[in-house]
Amino acid sequence: MLSQRRSLIVTSALPYANGPIHLGHLVEYIQSDIWCRYQKMQQHQCTHVCADDAHGTAIMLRAKRERMSPSVFLAQVIREHKADFAGFHIDFDYYYSTNTPENRILCNKIYEHNRAGGHIARRVISQAYDPEAEQFLPDRFIQGTCPKCGATEQYGDHCEACGAIYSPTDLINPTSAISGATPVTRESEHLFFKLADFTESLQQWCQAGHVQPEVANKLQEWFDAGLADWDISRDEPYYGFPIPGEKGKYFYVWVDAPIGYIASFNKYCQSLGMEYDSHWQPESDTELYHFIGKDIITFHTLFWPALLEGAGLRRPTGVFAHGFLTVNGRKMSKSRGTFIRASTYLRHLNPEYLRYYFATRLTSGLDDIDLNFADFAQRINSDLVGKVVNIASRCAGFIHKQCYSQLSAVCAEPELYQEFAAARHEICDYYEQREYAKAMRCIMALADRANQYINEEKPWVLAKQEDHGMAVQKVCSVGLNLFRLLIFYLKPVLPIMTREAEIFLNTHFYDWSDCDKPLLRHTIKPFEPLLTRINPADIEAMLADTEETGRLV
Ligand code: MSP
Ligand code: ZN
Repeated sequence: MLSQRRSLIVTSALPYANGPIHLGHLVEYIQSDIWCRYQKMQQHQCTHVCADDAHGTAIMLRAKRERMSPSVFLAQVIREHKADFAGFHIDFDYYYSTNTPENRILCNKIYEHNRAGGHIARRVISQAYDPEAEQFLPDRFIQGTCPKCGATEQYGDHCEACGAIYSPTDLINPTSAISGATPVTRESEHLFFKLADFTESLQQWCQAGHVQPEVANKLQEWFDAGLADWDISRDEPYYGFPIPGEKGKYFYVWVDAPIGYIASFNKYCQSLGMEYDSHWQPESDTELYHFIGKDIITFHTLFWPALLEGAGLRRPTGVFAHGFLTVNGRKMSKSRGTFIRASTYLRHLNPEYLRYYFATRLTSGLDDIDLNFADFAQRINSDLVGKVVNIASRCAGFIHKQCYSQLSAVCAEPELYQEFAAARHEICDYYEQREYAKAMRCIMALADRANQYINEEKPWVLAKQEDHGMAVQKVCSVGLNLFRLLIFYLKPVLPIMTREAEIFLNTHFYDWSDCDKPLLRHTIKPFEPLLTRINPADIEAMLADTEETGRLV
């Protein structure tokens, strides 16, 4: 059956340029990368774009602390981020930055459209101001004593000690985290996006299946409460794009960040000489999907579609939110040494271990995902090494030693083979629906079946019989053909291991329909272990390294 070739634009949330990529981020980038690799294997036109989220107060201050200009600091972070993504085989088609001329032009256009449509209001607000640093202070940059429990050095709007939520003005002895000065209250005029103008269309959009059911329920509460205006301006000094027609006012980073998705995609098309504007028109057939964490849902399901609509542009086809990573059952934390950077992990462990582990835990829902190291080691060793790779290592030697490296001319177990080949429909559905945990379980159940077949046929016994040649070849050829299907099914998750298996099997995995026919009378190449067991000492070393790196910052 020939399915229609779809055109998809897929985005992953743009990581903030003020810090390194950590394992929590990777839940998302691995999730989206698997999805895009799967779509590309389906022969769909799928473009995965991302960028660094370059603007905002945090980045401005971070660059200052490092005694660098924001742009020099940014260039360095982008380099590091790109290296981390490459290390985990996250295959973005384009990786850009939000601090680019293309994004600035788009941002102005989208703003101007919304302004012309009457969706921008202005109002004076009072805010905390640092008289020494001469700048307004976001909540996170105000420190003080918790009004409820008395814990000192609590940030902005909530107390880490007792969990109280308050406004920064309630803090006892508030100080600016930038200069240490006592903040004063100052007035300033801000620009607001009138989100409520879009209530009806947002509500329709949310109920039309573009968001997960849990998200739709949550949003309903917001609609019921009434949508408030959204403050889209920040006063200087601010690292961002100036708002056209205003003096000393900048776009809040969350305005230009999602627009960065468009800028990155357009830049990619431009680099290939392809047209891009049509993809953003409301009537476009191109599907647009955003992978995001559950902390940034409102930005992607309210502000973003409303801004797009106000600008006369198409809205997302789907927003896919995922849960947060916990490590050994608890929130990632610097003090517990579980804030593991991508680069630290890569110094000690194979990236495909983590890709597989996350795949075994990922669903289409918003549940948090736990990285438990004992379970992690056990999953890799028992599933990938003990089940999948084991099939090949049990069969390859006999084919090389006793059968001139050639697979049999007929498949001895056509039914078993067809059962494996037919499973691809179920596995594909799971990939499409982002039910990777189910896909992995299905693949591992097949791996068990393959091992069971080998156990029953006992090629090592057949090999010792006199007229052994044919029988051993038949059994091991079935084994290797089943192995080939399993590896094919794992390709979106394990691109490197798959590539090595392709070399060993002397074949290429192009299309899912290749699964229908086994390799017959086919010569294979020498077998090299495709993946080795996790050594618990490497996990220990990574954790020690994390503590060490943590101390240096
Ligand atoms: N810059 C914004 C996104 C702008 S998109 C137009 C941002 N950046 S981030 O660096 O904080 O996070 C990037 C992505 O990683 C987000 O989707 C976020 O939810 C996700 N994660 C960050 N920490 C995470 C975990 N501990 N666990 C899972 N995902 C996490 O938000
Ligand atoms: Zn408190």
